[in-house]
Amino acid sequence: MRTGRYAALAAVVVLAVAGCAKDDTGGTTESGVALVKSGTLTTCTHLPYAPFQSKDASGKVVGFDVALIDLVATRLGVTQSIVDTPFEGIKSGADLNSGKCDVAAAGMTITDERKQVLDFSEPYFDATQALNTLAGKEVKTLEELKGRRIGVQGGTTGDDYIKAQVKEKNLDLEVVAYKDLAALQQALATNQVAAAVGDLPVWNEYIKENPGQAVVTAGFDTGEQYGFAVKKGNATLLKAVNDAIAAARTDGTYDKIYAEWIGAKPAS
Ligand code: ARG
Repeated sequence: MRTGRYAALAAVVVLAVAGCAKDDTGGTTESGVALVKSGTLTTCTHLPYAPFQSKDASGKVVGFDVALIDLVATRLGVTQSIVDTPFEGIKSGADLNSGKCDVAAAGMTITDERKQVLDFSEPYFDATQALNTLAGKEVKTLEELKGRRIGVQGGTTGDDYIKAQVKEKNLDLEVVAYKDLAALQQALATNQVAAAVGDLPVWNEYIKENPGQAVVTAGFDTGEQYGFAVKKGNATLLKAVNDAIAAARTDGTYDKIYAEWIGAKPAS
């Protein structure tokens, strides 16, 4: 009786596992990298974040991160597919842990806190924070914003940085967090906030796309570095990501991609 029950249970487990394989809910590349969807490198990101990832006129997601992860996909003999999802689930590791995607590529800063829940690639981009206002309404310091509203993208390093500054310097500033970059930029454009803080390369891109509208009035050298991330312990995929970045740095592909999406060549 007992044995029979366990045997039945075992059979169910075997069927469940076999069922998964047949439904093609996963796959392994020739080089032995397990993927959540066979033939596909599934990337989680949070749009829009130009020039790292944003939709082009045809609706295709393109950008610096996209181009680099395409190199990883090519190495693995698969194609990249991009999932747009809130930044919170990306940085917390929830999306990678639940199998929503294989890799996170979101202009994401490597931090000690995030390292607890994600495995990061080697750094692939240096960034700082920038203070931005509308043209003609320039404010150069946080102190000058006394009693006014400053916008950030919720859950980002810019958000953390400003909140820490407010605390440390006891600033009279109302920090308003927006759910994504588009909402933050819209808030600045419509005077809902007197200034916005965020990653410098992203604001440079915004200014390039909207000439004469906004201005970077100050930089905060936070010394940030972006990393791609995989689920904790996914060493085979992490190696493929790191190998792809290293190869691109050596053979000039990185510089080409940099010139295409960021503009000026990276300082070496
Ligand atoms: N670098 C910042 C951070 O890691 C912002 C990233 C936001 N990325 C995005 N795709 N929305 O917190």
